[in-house]
Amino acid sequence: MIKIYAPASIANVGVGFDILGAAIIPINGTLLGDCVTVKLSKKFELINKGIFSNKLPINKEQNIVWKCWFKFCKIIKKNIPVSIILEKNMPIGSGLGSSACSVVATLVAINQICNNPLNSKELLLLMGEIEGEISGSVHYDNVAPSYLGGLQLILEDSHVVSQILPNFKNWFWIIAWPGVKVSTAEARKILPKEYKKDICIKNSRYLAGFIHASYTKQSDLAARCMQDFIAEPYRSKLLPNFLNAKEKIKKIGAIGCGISGSGPTIFAISDNMKTAEKISLWLKDNYLQNKTGFVHICCVDLKGVREIG
Ligand code: HSE
Repeated sequence: MIKIYAPASIANVGVGFDILGAAIIPINGTLLGDCVTVKLSKKFELINKGIFSNKLPINKEQNIVWKCWFKFCKIIKKNIPVSIILEKNMPIGSGLGSSACSVVATLVAINQICNNPLNSKELLLLMGEIEGEISGSVHYDNVAPSYLGGLQLILEDSHVVSQILPNFKNWFWIIAWPGVKVSTAEARKILPKEYKKDICIKNSRYLAGFIHASYTKQSDLAARCMQDFIAEPYRSKLLPNFLNAKEKIKKIGAIGCGISGSGPTIFAISDNMKTAEKISLWLKDNYLQNKTGFVHICCVDLKGVREIG
């Protein structure tokens, strides 16, 4: 029997739509992600557990876990009967890479129980493909960090899918999920099909600036470069009072703030704990829409997917 945990992630990281993603973990050590336990069995079985399991489709063939198993068996050309327990701890449609957590944990667990027939590149490509089927188009900015850990730059080169970037060790990433859902597929549909030249140039400049600042250890420059000209102008209306929250958070002292993935989670960055706590408190009091919402002060999770006891 194998139990695998895959961490939550912040896709886009403000400036890198579809090409930057950071795996995160709360600084208090809580695990924020999904767990999948797998064992060889006589036939395919799936048990859903966890606080968000009641939001999963009733028909097991619509469950991401089943899709992962089905595709995996097709690729290795062998039907592997397994019994799987999915602990759905991540809210669906939260912008924290919930589906990626399930996809990554499931594929790694099944691959491991089968003695690793797929290598890590093949696994990552399969993860991206499945994410694409769920959200409408292939993107690796949740699966790559959840799988590999750290802050990932998606390259989709013929040899290299993703590469780790340096991250600022003194940054606290405060995330707030308001307790409501935004469908990634819908949030992708509202984006323009084409962008003007000046937007493309500005986006390249800020993204290049962010990467440069990350390598040259210029924390303030990196934070100033975390601006989103691609998705935020169109998606902010899907979040509860996002622009007001952003302004407030910046006033409290955040050095960066944006939409996590396709939302509605907000992320803010602070380079000191006191400010991080103040931001966290403000978000708890003002951004959460109901009791299921949550706020965590996180750091970058460098480990990515892992086996747990
Ligand atoms: N980059 C993707 C998007 C992430 O923003 O649509 C989705 O979680």
